Amino acid sequence: MTTTIQVGMLGLGTVGSGVITRWPQAVTTIEETQGIQLQLTKVAVAHLARARQVPLPPETHLTDSITAVVADPQIQLVIEVMGTLTTAKQAIVAALTHGKSVITANKDLIATAGQELIALARREHCDLFYEASVAGGIPILRTLTDSYATDTVQAVTGILNGTANYILSAMTAGQSYDQALTAAQRAGYAESDPTNDVSGLDTTYKLMILGQLAFGQHLTREQIRPVGITTVTAAQCQFAAQHGWQIKLLAQAQRHADHLYCRVAPVAVPTTQILSQVQGVQNGVAIRSQAIGESLYTGPGAGSTATANSVLNDVLVATRRLQQGVRGTALSAPVQQLPVTNLAALAQSYLLFSDLAPVDLQCYAATNQLVLTPVAAGVYRTDVLNPQQVRILRATEDLQIVPIAGTVQWPEVAADREAISRAAIG
Ligand SMILES: NC(=O)c1ccc[n+]([C@@H]2O[C@H](COP(=O)([O-])OP(=O)(O)OC[C@H]3O[C@@H](n4cnc5c(N)ncnc54)[C@H](OP(=O)(O)O)[C@@H]3O)[C@@H](O)[C@H]2O)c1
Repeated sequence: MTTTIQVGMLGLGTVGSGVITRWPQAVTTIEETQGIQLQLTKVAVAHLARARQVPLPPETHLTDSITAVVADPQIQLVIEVMGTLTTAKQAIVAALTHGKSVITANKDLIATAGQELIALARREHCDLFYEASVAGGIPILRTLTDSYATDTVQAVTGILNGTANYILSAMTAGQSYDQALTAAQRAGYAESDPTNDVSGLDTTYKLMILGQLAFGQHLTREQIRPVGITTVTAAQCQFAAQHGWQIKLLAQAQRHADHLYCRVAPVAVPTTQILSQVQGVQNGVAIRSQAIGESLYTGPGAGSTATANSVLNDVLVATRRLQQGVRGTALSAPVQQLPVTNLAALAQSYLLFSDLAPVDLQCYAATNQLVLTPVAAGVYRTDVLNPQQVRILRATEDLQIVPIAGTVQWPEVAADREAISRAAIG
């Protein structure tokens, strides 16, 4: 016997339109494999009169009332793809308290209020899935929760923002920061206000979600302390590329002994690491785990149909669970509370860029007990620097430094405790 499940959707923009485009195929698959007929009965938008890129299914009613969707007793499943923090949170809370399972692509909300919403979903015996919130089209969250369930993740390293990666790739290819940003906006990769992308905040939200699922750890923005790409120059990207590195906005979370280390910052990634080859708007997530070792997942981190595919796979799982009557779960991992330290607090090597005359720079280095190895004119590789030396360098005009991936000196376990008490955040 075929069961019918009514679905409501909030938002009909980039992702919502992709859901509509992919809807017929998803409906057919779900009907054939599960015997469930899906009906998208209501879609809420902000501007009812706005022309839409995609025709809605005949049974779908367009409304500008979120309540009409989340309080409709016939609707069992709500897809939230409108973005925003407060409005989306209120809508999801209302949907869950009305007993509906929820699928969302909203990383800002899941990063900041995910635990609260997951707890609510459990209390209300509803499901809450959010695969599309990190790395858009790459199915990384369910991979972490399902395929690494019996493994132990040791490190997650990601290129998680397509806009920032596009700009860095374009600068490496010769464009200035402003040219690269304008090109990204023209191509529809960057929003008119790209602040969250270039400041590292968007990447930080995604790392918060990955940290939750990879380590069961609630990372905070204060712990991650994002550094964006606005101070990276085209010359730095090109020098780095000519000498064996690609500068990438990296999200990093790594377990060492009983501690977790994290950071979001531009990092020089050796071209021998596959992650360095993730170019343009593509995303990449490298995972190191006890059983599997190294694995890398790459693909489109955004985009209408790729992101919609992640949303629709969540719909498939949620409908199966609705049919089985086993609701009350969310994408989540067993909670841990490891001490957290920012990676910047550990000794490591840096690429140093300077316009100072080599003799003046070497004199400065000798005074501050730094060892600098020339890489090219104006580019040096530093010896392993401690945080105090890094502070001195960062306070010096005419010098810019970018950490080099894979050079962190991990503290001995005993010394680790001392490092944590000095550097632990929150
Ligand atoms: N774009 C991507 O590639 C991508 C990738 C991964 C995750 N996401 C996430 O997916 C979500 C949606 O992103 P998007 O790019 O599709 O956004 P978008 O293109 O700006 O679309 C937002 C949609 O939400 C509707 N909306 C906004 N406020 C509303 C309100 N108060 N009531 C009812 N409808 C409202 C808008 O209605 P109108 O059309 O009438 O203005 C619009 O249809 C965000 O959380 C985003 O972070 C996006």
